Amino acid sequence: MLIFLWAESQGKVIGFHGSLPWHLPADMHYFKTVTTGNTIVAGAKTFASFPQVLPNRTNVVVSHRDASEFPAGVTVLNSLDAVREYAAQRPTEKIFVVGGAQIFAGLIDDVDFLYRTVIDAGFDGDTWMPAIDYTKFQLIDRQPGVRNEKNTVDYAFEQYQRRS
Ligand SMILES: NC(=O)c1ccc[n+]([C@@H]2O[C@H](COP(=O)([O-])OP(=O)(O)OC[C@H]3O[C@@H](n4cnc5c(N)ncnc54)[C@H](OP(=O)(O)O)[C@@H]3O)[C@@H](O)[C@H]2O)c1
Repeated sequence: MLIFLWAESQGKVIGFHGSLPWHLPADMHYFKTVTTGNTIVAGAKTFASFPQVLPNRTNVVVSHRDASEFPAGVTVLNSLDAVREYAAQRPTEKIFVVGGAQIFAGLIDDVDFLYRTVIDAGFDGDTWMPAIDYTKFQLIDRQPGVRNEKNTVDYAFEQYQRRS
């Protein structure tokens, strides 16, 4: 199954200068918790924002470039159709599409679940979440985030399932 996993601030901002606009350790922790033991699919720019190949997960990168240009251990897929085929061959696996905007936009009609962290604050950005028709999805879980000295904004973790 394909699951989108992302965080967005007010105005659907998701990125700035090749990385995340905010510092929200609780969301990093959530990302690690839900993706560990599963598969992540990242566009080449998002993959470049990671400090390393993410451990304890299958790392798939979407790029037009050859696999030899990426670290060993990374699976490189050269098209969104290749991502669809990869997911279709693994129907019982949780495959987390972790962005960025180009990859989300191309797979919106294929995604089964949306895991969205909603950040109730404004940040400067240069990358936005593509439009999603939420009438096609049902909210199945919403957990408010804890605001504290390290996580200084309001946020919530939402999960949606595509309506059948
Ligand atoms: N807030 C969040 O949850 C979140 C999540 C993810 C990313 N982000 C942010 O979003 C920004 C990056 O997003 P982005 O949209 O600019 O880039 P992206 O989607 O991560 O990567 C774009 C790259 O993916 C490859 N690609 C895209 N479509 C393809 C296709 N159909 N076939 C083969 N390869 C394809 C291309 O790589 P090649 O040039 O190598 O061919 C393209 O340059 C960063 O700021 C990042 O931090 C935020």
